[in-house]
Amino acid sequence: MNVLLIGSGGREHALALALSKSPKLTRLFVAPGNPGTAGLAENVVVDIADHAAVIAFCRVMQVEFVVVGPEAPLVAGLVDDLASAGIKSFGPSRAAAQLEGSKGFTKDLCRQFNIPTGAYQRFTSINAAKAYVRSKGAPIVVKADGLAAGKGVVVAANLKEAEAALDMIFGGAFGAAGASVVVEEFLDGEEASFFALCDGERALAFASAQDHKRVGDGDTGPNTGGMGAYSPAPIMTDAVSARVMREIVEPTMAGMRARGAPFKGVLFAGLMIGRQGPKLIEFNTRFGDPETQAILPRLQDDLLTLLLASAEGGLPAGPVRLSPQTALTVVFAAKGYPEAPERGSEIKGVERAAQMEGVTVFHAGTKRDGDRLVANGGRVLNVTAVGASAREARQRAYAAVDVIDWPGGFCRRDIGWRALDKA
Ligand code: AMP
Ligand code: GLY
Repeated sequence: MNVLLIGSGGREHALALALSKSPKLTRLFVAPGNPGTAGLAENVVVDIADHAAVIAFCRVMQVEFVVVGPEAPLVAGLVDDLASAGIKSFGPSRAAAQLEGSKGFTKDLCRQFNIPTGAYQRFTSINAAKAYVRSKGAPIVVKADGLAAGKGVVVAANLKEAEAALDMIFGGAFGAAGASVVVEEFLDGEEASFFALCDGERALAFASAQDHKRVGDGDTGPNTGGMGAYSPAPIMTDAVSARVMREIVEPTMAGMRARGAPFKGVLFAGLMIGRQGPKLIEFNTRFGDPETQAILPRLQDDLLTLLLASAEGGLPAGPVRLSPQTALTVVFAAKGYPEAPERGSEIKGVERAAQMEGVTVFHAGTKRDGDRLVANGGRVLNVTAVGASAREARQRAYAAVDVIDWPGGFCRRDIGWRALDKA
């Protein structure tokens, strides 16, 4: 079967690698892809925001299945438009993607279906929101309702920060995404991520992971898209995972069916594991980046078969087969990330690093410039290694990082510290 993968990051390189191993695959196209996917698939130039162009491409190239990586095309209804054209895809409909596209939608669903999450209130008026914040006190969390490229959440340590966040969001920092705001209770505990494949009816537990959102060692500095991740997350024991399925994922599936928007695709639950057990921080309706780069190297089942089952219905009764090894990925970012990453610096030694034991180097923001490989984004490479333990995976990943010759880049040196502390 011919497959089109949408996206251009490290997540898509990892998806392309796993899809390329499928016995069901004939041709794999990636739009737009990156220099990493170019070695595994055919990168194509199609404007993914132009759904008619994507459909036309699928018709000409006889693409039967489209795998959508990032959230924006999901929220824009690409899966719906492809379905109307008779083309199957992996990912939720526009209505079901509201689980990621509107934080207020998800909070209301949690309230209605008794899904554990922080107490909250929704606002469209700044004065009412400020009065609520003052009545609750700090710490408190302020969130723009819509997609804000990961920047729409402020965990405010005091009232001044909370009010500044409300001024910023209602002031239009995120445009329409900030016309509505969720103010939420601060949750204490350890964060973890959990992924479940869903086919509209059923959900199948897939994997757990933990990422590192802050740019600096020791979880300091500004938030980023993620500076590294590992899978599994030691805190996500079988018992905790079973609770997440029972208390969060399954009621969400039932709630979305009840709302006439059955959820298909991958449900990515951002969790806070506290004294009372797991609580939902947020949902994403796609694979995580960089979590996917630490999950897929552990997958022993055929990814294409699983994604097709999610789209068509009839996911296996489970469980998904994952290697018991730990995979850990270190994000190698361009200097200046996240504020102003410097573009164009040359990167050498990637091939040598990729030959090291257990190592895969995923491209995220690179570009070919003649014979040279250069930085072309914030998060540029994801250096992943598998090992018998988190310690071994980390040692292998950093050994590979150290043979990459890229003076224009930097990475955190402490990815996996939580897993190592628990070992
Ligand atoms: P989100 O974009 O919703 O994942 O939020 C970004 C980050 O903000 C999360 O990964 C958490 O670290 C933090 N966060 C969000 N909501 C809460 C909350 N209610 N309590 C504590 N931290 C939170
Ligand atoms: N790493 C977090 C995300 O993909 O949203």
